[in-house]
Amino acid sequence: MCGIVGVVGLEACSETILDSLKRLEYRGYDSSGIVIQSDGALQMNRAVGKLRNLSEMMREAPLDGQSGLGHTRWATHGGVSERNAHPHMAGDKVVIVHNGIIENHVALRVELEGKGHSFSSETDSEVLAHLFLEAFDNGLSAQQAGKEVMARIEGTFALAAMHADHPDMMIVARNASPLAVGLGEGASFIGSDAVALSHLTRDVIYLKDNDYAVIRPEGVEVFDAEGTPVNREVVIVAASQGVVDKGGYRHFMEKEIHEQPDAIAHTLAAMTGPEGKLSTPLAREDLAAIDGIVMLAAGTSHYAAMVARYWIESLARVPVSCEIASEYRYRNPVTGAFSCAVAISQSGESLDTLMAMRHAGEAGLRTIGLVNVPGSTIAREADMVMPTRAGPEIGVASTKAFTAQLTALVSFAVALAEAKGQISVARRDEIHAAIQGLPSMVGRTLGLFDDIRPLAHSLTAARSALYLGRDVLFPVALEGALKLKELSYIHAEGFASGEMKHGPIALIEEGLPVVALLAADEVMGKAASNLQEAAARGGRIILITEERAASTIDFAESVITVPNVDPLLAPVLLTVPVQILAYLTAFEKGTDVDQPRNLAKSVTVE
Ligand code: G6P
Repeated sequence: MCGIVGVVGLEACSETILDSLKRLEYRGYDSSGIVIQSDGALQMNRAVGKLRNLSEMMREAPLDGQSGLGHTRWATHGGVSERNAHPHMAGDKVVIVHNGIIENHVALRVELEGKGHSFSSETDSEVLAHLFLEAFDNGLSAQQAGKEVMARIEGTFALAAMHADHPDMMIVARNASPLAVGLGEGASFIGSDAVALSHLTRDVIYLKDNDYAVIRPEGVEVFDAEGTPVNREVVIVAASQGVVDKGGYRHFMEKEIHEQPDAIAHTLAAMTGPEGKLSTPLAREDLAAIDGIVMLAAGTSHYAAMVARYWIESLARVPVSCEIASEYRYRNPVTGAFSCAVAISQSGESLDTLMAMRHAGEAGLRTIGLVNVPGSTIAREADMVMPTRAGPEIGVASTKAFTAQLTALVSFAVALAEAKGQISVARRDEIHAAIQGLPSMVGRTLGLFDDIRPLAHSLTAARSALYLGRDVLFPVALEGALKLKELSYIHAEGFASGEMKHGPIALIEEGLPVVALLAADEVMGKAASNLQEAAARGGRIILITEERAASTIDFAESVITVPNVDPLLAPVLLTVPVQILAYLTAFEKGTDVDQPRNLAKSVTVE
């Protein structure tokens, strides 16, 4: 997944392009580049590594003009190198930037090479530059060239192209990968999301799949794949989508961990109806009609789905199947037992989740998008939307979006249980009161940073760690292990505590850190026995638990306690120390906390 930006008609636009790229760096950060069109020539700077390397290059070799494109890359086809960095040029005349994958690039490259085109990168994207060059060399207009290239390519893309001889004009197109077009005064802009444009304009057009557009300073003409002009609505994006800073914290992740009380409170507000009851944006009849749910998500969002399965099944008695989005799409799932699919995605742009949601929709399921980014592709395409209100999450490893997802999902489970007649008023109100207490309990849990620091320090020497949880805490163990490995690069695995004896216990050797999640719930006794088995084999037990459950285990090496909480909500509260442990371990190790190696915030390729 990469980020693309473009500007036509703005003096000294290279600074603006760099600013927009900074807002998109979360989408990829292995290399970046800028091209500027000026006096019939295209001038380009590209740099490997973080965006600051490109900024440095732009200071040393400034590019000046009023139109240009920018790109920040996360490598898919072709290694990380300057020649594979975008933009890509053909014949010194055409330049392109691309996010996505051109699936038929090999056949196109062979064909184009046969016609005398010579390629300078290993990327799939470069074929786009050569296809546009062919089209223009054949005398096609910009509109015809857009249609011609669209007809030739297969795959996913958000792309933009410029021609040296066509000043202040760019052609853009999209299929599945996100693209926003911004309308300014005498200038037009494009970006992978509206945040990239929020310092430039609030008037945004989102292209639909297979649309393409010719963009000039004075306006935008949009066409469908057949080349027929179409009108796409201009949306006024919220001013709050502006770029965010670290607010005095060392990392966005640290800031976002601290923003969780707010994120939970705002999400709860979005899930509370006018009469003050837990609610959803869905009508009661829609809820009552739900008799089986497929949850589709990736990464941390998938673990939120797994927690929700326990809630929905136990409270609403509705069967739930949790599916890894990238797997679901290529299965031939039997959907008869389900009436709806919930696509959970912080960004609303994860391509695997989007495709899985479309797949479910095509199979006849009603789709619900649970997203944190309003206006994202999943939000726009789902039949119904449930929002989380965590605010922009910049750290690549998801934190506040996860606890906001859990907040929305437990509220959904209660509203569903009510619509299905499965919950008493007393229990409903009890859960509601407990959720309302979550922001302050999470706030108190944030005080654990100092307690966890020495523990994190001791973990930096570990080569491997296990995370154990049982029942609703099993997915939190998976999330804990994911956080540790993605941030600190320490190998970590999460297991259901009861499953240890069926294999993973063989991994335990003297001193292996075992992070154990425990709540005062129905399975506490059994979970404690499973931990005893790990400790007896030399595992170093790091217990994360509620105050009232801490004394259940007297063999833990370290104990981190959170306030007592309704067992239903234990996954939300116990997630917080798990995040802090991963954050501080990574911090102590000196890894790149906000942008861990090889990862990207929003994965818009399959
Ligand atoms: C990437 C991120 C993860 C995130 C996952 C799903 O892999 O690195 O932190 O959980 O995508 O993202 P989504 O935006 O769909 O929730």
